[in-house]
Amino acid sequence: MAEDEMGRRDFVEKLGVGSLAAVAAGGLAAEAPKQEWKPTTDRKLRVGIVGYGVCSFGAQFGFQDHPNVEIVAVSDLIPARREGLMKACRCEKSYESLELLVKDPKIEAVFTATDAPSHARHSMLVLNSGKHSMTAVPAVWGSVEDAEKLAETVQKTGLKYMMAETSCFHDDCYAMRQIYKAGGFGRLVYSEGEYYHYVSAPIDSYKGWRIGTPPLWYPTHSTAYYIGVTGKRYTSVSCVGFKSDKQWYKPGANKYDNPFADEVALFQTSEGGASRMGMWHTVFSKISETGRVFGEKGWMDGMNYRGSMRPLPDLKRPQLPPGVPAGGHGGSHGQLMHEFVMAILEDRQPMIDVYESLAMTVPGIIAHQSALKDGESLKIPQFDRAKA
Ligand SMILES: NC(=O)c1ccc[n+]([C@@H]2O[C@H](COP(=O)([O-])OP(=O)(O)OC[C@H]3O[C@@H](n4cnc5c(N)ncnc54)[C@H](O)[C@@H]3O)[C@@H](O)[C@H]2O)c1
Repeated sequence: MAEDEMGRRDFVEKLGVGSLAAVAAGGLAAEAPKQEWKPTTDRKLRVGIVGYGVCSFGAQFGFQDHPNVEIVAVSDLIPARREGLMKACRCEKSYESLELLVKDPKIEAVFTATDAPSHARHSMLVLNSGKHSMTAVPAVWGSVEDAEKLAETVQKTGLKYMMAETSCFHDDCYAMRQIYKAGGFGRLVYSEGEYYHYVSAPIDSYKGWRIGTPPLWYPTHSTAYYIGVTGKRYTSVSCVGFKSDKQWYKPGANKYDNPFADEVALFQTSEGGASRMGMWHTVFSKISETGRVFGEKGWMDGMNYRGSMRPLPDLKRPQLPPGVPAGGHGGSHGQLMHEFVMAILEDRQPMIDVYESLAMTVPGIIAHQSALKDGESLKIPQFDRAKA
């Protein structure tokens, strides 16, 4: 039997889904047979939610539907959005800003779905106010200094911090992580990740932050397909940028002085491999967030594992409490929220803690610097527990 065929049969048997057609169609195991969710506590975490912008992200993760959560208050600077968020979260209390919300002593944890340039500042404000922090991606915006300050703040306060990177809970990326941990890939020789987001006209955003952004300042949907799988690190990078003809990339036309609409980076990894990660705005009409991994003992593309491991570990994402929707971005929203809530209630580190968050974010900042220097190879600063 060809190895490919063996791998496919084992994979199907392991998942208990007897349909090769389903494998061929891809996306298998995303919603395989479910066990009943059992509560481990009846305590309710008291949460504040901030940010209801273009993506209405504050309400997208299902905090308002979790049996262990009480939404104490919400906020957005813009009154109509604030009201929209109150309605979506079924919450009667609101504040005019995050800065006022963090003063509420009842709130224990805050989800900030504000504009990306404010994430580091907002996360640190939340932590310094004595509250746990979950932020939308990316962790920091183009600043290695902010990354250092954020890591220090998490360490100093001892509170939980998590970045809601959606690719980490895509069914395939999550399964890759389980197989990697169990040894089914060996060391990764090579990995790749893509975030395609075609933009034909500038997307509206708070203070125009999305106009002309350096592509790999927003790297985490791609880098999750190495860092989120292995927990290993990038050590150096060489990156190539593509100059768009669009008006908002012309000299002086954006606040970042950025000429590139697309960037492709080649990273060296701490386990001796290579990793190609990109972010594209120009590829016509393409929008997707995907990746794949290739190791000494196996490789994986989508939900199809080809390798030497028999049997495979449990690949299913955790069961969500009843009433919590899986949500968008491949059913990752509910998982991310649940992971953050349970990490606090169980007093453990969340899966995407500050070190993993920075390991997914900072390499993109350095990659952009490399692209501005015609692909010069640059070292990547490390933010790790041992060092902290
Ligand atoms: N797949 C993903 O993970 C994914 C997808 C979409 C968006 N996002 C992230 O979600 C975030 C929100 O995206 P968006 O497009 O809705 O952004 P946006 O710029 O449209 O909205 C940001 C909102 O934050 C509010 N805000 C800013 N500062 C505030 C403060 N101090 N107090 C209260 N409210 C404040 C603004 O009023 C605005 O309504 C972004 O960081 C983005 O990167 C992630």
